[in-house]
Amino acid sequence: MNAKDVPPAYSSFAQRPSWRRGRARKSRVLRAVGITCLAFIAFAQWRQLSAPVPPSADITVHGLSVKRLQKDLATCSKLRKKPEDPIGPGRDRNARYIDGHAPTLIKNATVWVGEPVEGTSAEDARNGKGYRWITSDVYLEHGLIKRVEASIAVSSVAKDAIVYDAKGRPLTTGIIDMHSHAGVGSLPFLVGNEDSNEASGDITPFVRSIDGIQVDDHQIQVIKSGGVTTSLILPGSANNMGGEAYVIKHAVGKPDGRNETSATDLLADPDRNWRFMKMACGENPKRVYGRHGEGGPASRMGESWEFRHAFEQAARIVREQDDWCDAAAAGGIENVKGYLPQEIRWESLGALLRDQVRLNTHCYTAPDLEAFVDHTNEFKFKVRAFHHAHQTYLVPDILKRAYGGEPPASALFADHMWYKAEAYVASEYAGKILYDNGLTSIYVSDNPVINAQHVVFEAARGYRYGLPYHVALAAVTTAPAERLGFGKRLGKVKAGFDADIVVWDSDPLSVGAAPVQVWIDGRAQFENPVELKKPKAKLIVPDEALARIAEEPTMMDDVVFTGVSSTLTAEVASEGTGKVLVSKGKITCIGTCEAELKALESGTKSKVPVVRLRDGHLTGSFTGFGGTLGLNSIDMESVTDNGDDGEIFSRAEDGLQLDDKKLHVSYRYGVTKAISAPKFAGQATHHGTSTGFLTGSTTVLDSGAVFANDVAVHYSIGHFGPGAPTVSAYIGALRRKLLDAAALREAPTDPYSESAFLQRVVNGSLPLAITAHSADIIASVLKVKAAVDAVTKSSLHLVIVGGGEANVVAEELAAAKVPVVLLPFLSYRLTWEERRALTGAPLTNGTNIDRLIDAGVEVAIGMEGDYVVRTLGLSAGIAFKNGGGKLTERQALGLVSGNLYKIFGIQEPSVKEGHFLIHEGNPLEIGSRIKAVAGGQGQVSVF
Ligand SMILES: *[C@@H]1O[C@H](CO)[C@@H](O)[C@H](O)[C@H]1NC(C)=O
Ligand SMILES: *[C@@H]1O[C@H](CO)[C@@H](O)[C@H](O)[C@H]1NC(C)=O
Ligand SMILES: *[C@@H]1O[C@H](CO)[C@@H](O)[C@H](O)[C@H]1NC(C)=O
Ligand SMILES: *[C@@H]1O[C@H](CO)[C@@H](O)[C@H](O)[C@H]1NC(C)=O
Repeated sequence: MNAKDVPPAYSSFAQRPSWRRGRARKSRVLRAVGITCLAFIAFAQWRQLSAPVPPSADITVHGLSVKRLQKDLATCSKLRKKPEDPIGPGRDRNARYIDGHAPTLIKNATVWVGEPVEGTSAEDARNGKGYRWITSDVYLEHGLIKRVEASIAVSSVAKDAIVYDAKGRPLTTGIIDMHSHAGVGSLPFLVGNEDSNEASGDITPFVRSIDGIQVDDHQIQVIKSGGVTTSLILPGSANNMGGEAYVIKHAVGKPDGRNETSATDLLADPDRNWRFMKMACGENPKRVYGRHGEGGPASRMGESWEFRHAFEQAARIVREQDDWCDAAAAGGIENVKGYLPQEIRWESLGALLRDQVRLNTHCYTAPDLEAFVDHTNEFKFKVRAFHHAHQTYLVPDILKRAYGGEPPASALFADHMWYKAEAYVASEYAGKILYDNGLTSIYVSDNPVINAQHVVFEAARGYRYGLPYHVALAAVTTAPAERLGFGKRLGKVKAGFDADIVVWDSDPLSVGAAPVQVWIDGRAQFENPVELKKPKAKLIVPDEALARIAEEPTMMDDVVFTGVSSTLTAEVASEGTGKVLVSKGKITCIGTCEAELKALESGTKSKVPVVRLRDGHLTGSFTGFGGTLGLNSIDMESVTDNGDDGEIFSRAEDGLQLDDKKLHVSYRYGVTKAISAPKFAGQATHHGTSTGFLTGSTTVLDSGAVFANDVAVHYSIGHFGPGAPTVSAYIGALRRKLLDAAALREAPTDPYSESAFLQRVVNGSLPLAITAHSADIIASVLKVKAAVDAVTKSSLHLVIVGGGEANVVAEELAAAKVPVVLLPFLSYRLTWEERRALTGAPLTNGTNIDRLIDAGVEVAIGMEGDYVVRTLGLSAGIAFKNGGGKLTERQALGLVSGNLYKIFGIQEPSVKEGHFLIHEGNPLEIGSRIKAVAGGQGQVSVF
């Protein structure tokens, strides 16, 4: 580390200077004059004698240590240092490079450079034009990209260079995640490892995420397996001022050539040119700290005051320091009457006011954004990005009013929303709308909120929702690099940049894209990377039509779709393609349909509207299973929620609340059916009976609104934390309930009671769905099934929901013919109970679904959060593409539709009954779009 670039140190014993104190000022002034005179005489004598200062003269006339004053003076220059972005080109070696690592020559890659070709106008560049993929070799040495050239001869590079054949595959710079809590909130979650929020107070700008980073957090490796090489590790968002943040690279230990790793070793810029900080506004701080009559902030008003009050303290110290430094520079340190004012509590905030800190602020709503922008102008500091910036797309002009001339970027999720009031107003088109307003969108994970391994998939959906392809890819590479001040070092594949490289098995913005190798500082990170069996990568041809935001649909009774090239539903026998004719919301013909169309037109005496498609696809509609669709609107708002039912057994049908925003969105994204169960102890837990309903209904009284009253009896078994029963108690209670039900001689008087449902469960006529992740719990439940089956001489229709570790007991599940609904589809070891989940290539050979299908277990995909209604087709796409050929496209789509009905033994509202989707493009691909939805309402919504 370069000492001169280190941020200013502070003396913890620094005191307020005595001359600031009001009392006895007059007598001090007199005394000071006297002392100054004496000092002058002493000084003159010293000059005359030219003798070294005796130790006793190390004190100024004001009684201050000269040494310390000199240190203070040196601190002044550090305080006034204007950080510059760390240099890229011009270095011989990367400061992170460890001697002895062999260089690497990557041959035959298809490279995304990260900037448009020379001569591209600024406007074209903004529109994603001029970017391209080039066929190239890339040479890495001393932790840097040294050469990017069409053909680099092996003979022209160092003899010991490792040669890697990319086989023409896509190569990009490492992905950058500008919002992560990896390391400070290690996974699986353990209370003892949770260090992301300093909860001792609302204003803690003085704490530092680096002090909590656990370098052995396995998630750091999992994230890297998604091609993420750099992350900004932020404190959490409980506090208005959360503390300092650090940019790390995901190179830990051996793969980085180190015998051990410290958090300092992870720093992306060992010279620490910039510092980083996290602040937050909105719901979190007031929820965490607002206690009526005790402490605040309890409202957004209180939060603004907390901010302003803190900034006032820091601004005062900055002013005092500047006064001191000016005085010391002008009059000499021997004349100052106190030490440099320093206060460790406000040091980092002062550095922010001095523009040495890149601030990232969590703010969702328009009022939060406006208030915070107000603070930037009152106290004159910059915000580099607003995070969770769901509503920034509504207020571009407010962003443009922010202090400093460069509007903050918006660090976004692609489509994760609805989980609390401030996330209720949000749009998947936010990225595109901001971009259209000349602003910058960046996609982030907020790991562990989203598994950062797949942050590139957020960018992929940014493209799907209208951002130009190259702008979307820049949103996880060059754009965050620039916002972090690493624009000359990270985010591009150019000579002089850090050698953080990913070679992908397919286009990085395609569904299921996975790295085949990742390099950090020129060093390959995976010793034996698992490579999925995939066809040769085809690069996405950017589709500008995606930039047209889907308007409100037109409702049609009759319509004919042309250009349908594929029917991906087993229900439709006809392979004939061409036209799909719809009458009264139902398909009446697939194929040429000439006679049928004529008949329809003569019957209605009007022309049937025609919708022309490019590469149209017909599929059944999707089913959203296991979320809270129909049972709540906003997760964290109890008045919108059916609630956590705890121990009270109930039926989802009795709690259905329909016709809300989530259901409207579900419908337009093709999820016309949902199966939901009451929550037990929070999200993704279940208790009671589930109900199957149509998402397009207004109330349960609509004809056909509920297509399956009681789909299954659900229980959840797990470690639900303090106060909850033990796992052994849950298992015991389950066995007892089932055996009691088996012993019942008569039907209970209430046919809707738990025991009445259990009576049907034990004779095998109603499924028993157990939500559990742990392989041990699943194993225990299989033993309960065996015990009960032995008594009833029948077979429990058991279904496992969740299944984070189902891969461990795949063979046993298959033997017991117990199906699994994976929820989430891709587990990432979030909890202890999921710690044996498979996170996928290049770290593991496939994910849980692969092990289950290989073993012969019937599988479907559920929803860990309702926001995934937009991406169920793409989840099927991931299963298809990353399954090495084990699934056909139809089978993959079955994971989010037909399989659920097979698993629960109920009738699916079918294509014939008017449940179908018409897509433009293949629904398993990122660039597809739903053009028409029919959800059994007698009409079809056409976009
Ligand atoms: C690059 O890889 C592709 C795909 O494997 C191959 O067809 C091509 O011949 C390779 N080019 C060279 C120069 O090796
Ligand atoms: C790691 O340990 C080995 C053996 O003790 C030593 O030779 C090597 O220099 C160490 N490497 C680093 C980077 O400290
Ligand atoms: C199972 O039990 C229920 C309730 O007693 C009964 O209505 C149903 O007919 C039984 N089914 C079978 C297959 O025995
Ligand atoms: C991954 O698992 C599949 C079975 O699903 C097997 O055929 C393949 O050889 C395995 N690949 C590796 C690299 O272990």
